[in-house]
Amino acid sequence: MRQGIGRAHGKIILMGEHAVVYGTPAIAVPFQRVETVATLTEHTGHSELHSSFYDGLFEQLPDIISSLYHLVRLLKDHFSHETPFNLHINSTIPPERGMGSSAAVSSAVTRAFFDYHQTPLSDQQLLHFVDQAETIAHGSPSGIDSFLMTQTQPIRFSRTEPIRISRTEPIRILPDLPNGFLIVADSGMIGQTKQAVNHVRDRYEQGDFNVIQAIQRIEELVGAGEQAIQVGSLEQLGQLLNDNHFALQQLGISTPVIDEYIQCARQAGALGAKITGGGLGGCLIALATNEPQAIAIAKQLESAGAANTWVAPL
Ligand code: PMV
Repeated sequence: MRQGIGRAHGKIILMGEHAVVYGTPAIAVPFQRVETVATLTEHTGHSELHSSFYDGLFEQLPDIISSLYHLVRLLKDHFSHETPFNLHINSTIPPERGMGSSAAVSSAVTRAFFDYHQTPLSDQQLLHFVDQAETIAHGSPSGIDSFLMTQTQPIRFSRTEPIRISRTEPIRILPDLPNGFLIVADSGMIGQTKQAVNHVRDRYEQGDFNVIQAIQRIEELVGAGEQAIQVGSLEQLGQLLNDNHFALQQLGISTPVIDEYIQCARQAGALGAKITGGGLGGCLIALATNEPQAIAIAKQLESAGAANTWVAPL
């Protein structure tokens, strides 16, 4: 039976989320500890989707995943694909937690269609499809999640179209991060990227000084973060994560529970900790010097109530 398989990893924004929407840079890394696998198989009868978020006829996909519906239609049109299919999506990336789940689903599904049709897929083409799905899912995304899907290295990303408060520089592939460990903790609460982005935008458009100041501060911090990476200073990077979290609090996208977890990670010895991604829930990240310390921090976070944790070398 004809089949195509596509895989995609998660992503973590180390610094610069939200401000990146306004044209300032952000630093993000692919996160290989979690992944989405899409399998497209030829089928008789009606096309079906099987996943943790929906199991049933493809034509009856709920509105909440209209971005996936739209993406599959684009891919079907691209290949003039008429044959009914079974699309299985298995993912270890928790959805709506700021770990890039929606971009990873779109990316894995796009790769599965190209694999099924035995057609090479360029990064440009992948971006084209994933960006369209992300725009439906998130409104006006900066494009950082989609771009990360084409990368295996840390990147410094700036969006390439308007809404810009700063002089944007091109996307850069960064050197390896300083030796150390990353802890990612899922608060268990759904992140609300679209609402968070709209909340910041409303305040920005009203000329809220705190918001403008926080975005400018984040830009400076990301610049310093890039330097810390260039010179391999984990301590400096940790401090910058703390400062970045403070600026994100000013933007109003953290929550009391996440602030509590961040405090818990710092007390357990983290060099720095912050919320990651869209916020209003979702995940936080922390940095540790070595693996035993990282595991100890992750355990503390789980005891404090975090739904899940991951530890990975930086
Ligand atoms: O919540 P996520 O993983 O989709 O990350 C959103 C990042 C933002 O900067 C808040 C929005 C964007 O489009 O860049």
